[in-house]
Amino acid sequence: MRHLMNPLDFSVEELDRLFDLANRIEKDPARYAHACDGKKLATCFYEPSTRTRLSFEAAMLNLGGQVLGFSDAASSSAAKGESVSDTIRIISCYADICAMRHPKEGAPMVAAERSGIPVINAGDGGHQHPTQTLTDLLTIRSLKGRLGSFTIGLCGDLKFGRTVHSLINALIRYTDIRFIFISPAELKVPDYITDMLTEKNIPYEEVIRLEDCMPDLDLLYMTRVQKERFFNEEDYVRLKDFYILDKTKLSAAKGDMLVLHPLPRVNEISVEVDDDPRAVYFKQAQYGVYVRMALILTLLGIEN
Ligand code: CP
Repeated sequence: MRHLMNPLDFSVEELDRLFDLANRIEKDPARYAHACDGKKLATCFYEPSTRTRLSFEAAMLNLGGQVLGFSDAASSSAAKGESVSDTIRIISCYADICAMRHPKEGAPMVAAERSGIPVINAGDGGHQHPTQTLTDLLTIRSLKGRLGSFTIGLCGDLKFGRTVHSLINALIRYTDIRFIFISPAELKVPDYITDMLTEKNIPYEEVIRLEDCMPDLDLLYMTRVQKERFFNEEDYVRLKDFYILDKTKLSAAKGDMLVLHPLPRVNEISVEVDDDPRAVYFKQAQYGVYVRMALILTLLGIEN
């Protein structure tokens, strides 16, 4: 039995196979419409979500399976003090596979250790968000035609952003990638990441102004300043609108640069950018369904 806790749980070759499958699903969804007949996915979400939970549920429904679960810890027996370990032992009696989001880092891993079914980390605190990373990689591979040989700017909350941490970890396995980290000093990417890049001789720069690097970028990965990760409201209010990507800033970018965002956005991308062909964040959410379909099939060991 296999779980997904971290994007690195899959080798580069396994990811290639997963993305090939996702692209086949995209081209011919009818072929997979009954691949999970009789199977059930449990979504155990102890933290709010729109995309991850609903795209997992859409993925299983698209495959002919069924879904059950909870979207709020308060409506589960966690509110009565039940542990994640006990909950997953129960869920293992009800479902064939489980996607779990939890505010505590490592909680899905604790669940995986006691689980009788595959567990997918659907985001744990500020730690990892592997299925968002699979979504990001599939989007880049599908729209750029490659995973490598580019300069990627990651902008916004690089300190608490689990999507950013997961994506950097995944991208360092590809060749000729240069990172530009764009953040205020308070939201800098953690030292353990820059130390790891230095150790591996992977080029990176840290800048504060988005305008200073826009013409260099092949990919711009915008992120939200996450209110829920701040300890005080004052710091959040001071930093929340630090970056706002608008048409004027985007005019300095390459014609084929892609703007990605894991979403939800708040103010960091002006809605006037949405119609620009370089803005691919809504397409990215659609790729999230295909890749989660491919992941469910892979972890259930269903021939495809
Ligand atoms: N990208 C993402 O994780 O969105 P949700 O929080 O809505 O699931």
